Amino acid sequence: MRETLRFLLGDELIEIAPCDPTLTVLDWLRLERRLTGSKEGCAEGDCGACTVVVGRLDRCRLRYEAINACIRFLPTLDGCQILTVEHLKRPDGSLHPVQQAMVDCHGSQCGFCTPGIVMSLFALWLNENTPSVARIEDALAGNLCRCTGYEPIIAAAQRMYHLDEAEWFDRDAVADTLRALADMETLALTSPKGRFLAPATVNALADLVMAHPQATLVAGATDVGLWVTKGMRRLDPVISLGRIEALREIADRGDHIVFGAMATHAEVRPVLASLSPQLDELMRRFGGEQVRNAGTIGGNIANGSPIGDLPPALIALGASLVLRRGGEQRDIPLEDFFLDYRKQDRREGEFVEAVIVPKLPRDAEFHISKISKRFDEDISAVCGAFLLEIGRDGWITDARLAYGGLAGIPKRALETEAALIGRAWDDAAVDDAILALPRDFTPLSDMRASAGYRLAMAGNLLRRFLIETTRPGVETRVAGLLAEARHG
Ligand SMILES: Cc1cc2nc3c(=O)[nH]c(=O)nc-3n(C[C@H](O)[C@H](O)[C@H](O)COP(=O)(O)OP(=O)(O)OC[C@H]3O[C@@H](n4cnc5c(N)ncnc54)[C@H](O)[C@@H]3O)c2cc1C
Ligand code: FES
Ligand code: FES
Repeated sequence: MRETLRFLLGDELIEIAPCDPTLTVLDWLRLERRLTGSKEGCAEGDCGACTVVVGRLDRCRLRYEAINACIRFLPTLDGCQILTVEHLKRPDGSLHPVQQAMVDCHGSQCGFCTPGIVMSLFALWLNENTPSVARIEDALAGNLCRCTGYEPIIAAAQRMYHLDEAEWFDRDAVADTLRALADMETLALTSPKGRFLAPATVNALADLVMAHPQATLVAGATDVGLWVTKGMRRLDPVISLGRIEALREIADRGDHIVFGAMATHAEVRPVLASLSPQLDELMRRFGGEQVRNAGTIGGNIANGSPIGDLPPALIALGASLVLRRGGEQRDIPLEDFFLDYRKQDRREGEFVEAVIVPKLPRDAEFHISKISKRFDEDISAVCGAFLLEIGRDGWITDARLAYGGLAGIPKRALETEAALIGRAWDDAAVDDAILALPRDFTPLSDMRASAGYRLAMAGNLLRRFLIETTRPGVETRVAGLLAEARHG
């Protein structure tokens, strides 16, 4: 056991013991280190004012990502490097190209959002060369500017690549330091506010979860963080899964893909995109970049939200879960995992170890639509994912239709599927399937959408699926229409 938290703040080695298990990175920076450049706007991962950049080892290589400091617990950054807006100025006092470009293009509007915007652009600058405007917009989608002045910020994002590119910190030296900090000991922090445990192996995790079945498991903390900042909950003990490399692995096994539960949305996206471009669009619209860099596939499923975006897609694809309890593993179909509102088939001492996703069968048509009030960084009101197997004669031989937002759990539409199987894939079949939807779902009204809207939308998504598969060239997607508008 190691009882001291260790990480780099810029190039300074920080060692902390004891540490509150749910102390947020933002509170530590602002209240304890007096680094007040990072701001608190919403404290729930939405506005991006708190954005910092984190360097972490990914299979021994250094990887930099923007995250929301307001909902991230400091001890989960053991073995990482934290960079804040204060670290950008060069030793001689001159501005970093990202900052200089913001000044040159008049991109700095209010002091509240600007530091977060600069840090999102800094992450982009570290990772990519000459990104497209669409990619820049994507990188900024997690930074809300209420004065709507994005144009000069986008101009700054283009200009920053034309300024001095010299590195002002030595990435190799940082990687060496993080490698030296990495160990296989369980990190065990104790403080008057509670305990924080972070094992480095799956076996150690399995033992700890068995020993502390009431502990709160934390993956990316994009949900759990809000229980603390908004719900004011005290969590004790906390078990973090973040140090376990093996849980981040993604393996292609021929006809299926195995995702470790801790694979982040950013890591999952290109792999799911290889199955369907619509999955790429779904993942691109999943939170903002900061949320995708932290949130995990396992957390999205284990959270059990009826409007989580991945469950409908993965249920339609026929995914299953590997659940681990002590030394035992069991596989269950994902659709059987969700029992009731926020209630899952997860036994005491059990956790999600991996998600198995079959590749699309040949002759299958797949569709996914996310309907939300905002196009970017918003959770679904309704999400529909459909997989149809269609024989050579054009008749539907199998159907898997899954919806989020229509019931207390993400759920298959079994009656609607039955209305399609054995039919030709055409307007008449879709009309009959839509009539069957009320037998599958009795949705609720809430602030995201009314019950009537949800049911009508569920049917409209089936119709969109038919149009997309039978009338090529008809534009049905906002993303496509936006691209069209951009290129005149
Ligand atoms: C600004 C913002 C935007 C968001 N946008 C979206 C969106 O567009 N679509 C969407 O679906 N969600 C969205 N979310 C919700 C959230 O980001 C996702 O649900 C995310 O996938 C949760 O993953 P995590 O790793 O952060 O989980 P955590 O917050 O760490 O954990 C969530 C729950 O899962 C449990 N858990 C985590 N991992 C495991 C495991 N391996 N085994 C057992 N239990 C586990 C935890 O104990 C907790 O109960 C958004 C959140 C924010 C803050
Ligand atoms: S303060 Fe708004 S995202 Fe962190
Ligand atoms: S930069 Fe703060 S509101 Fe626009």
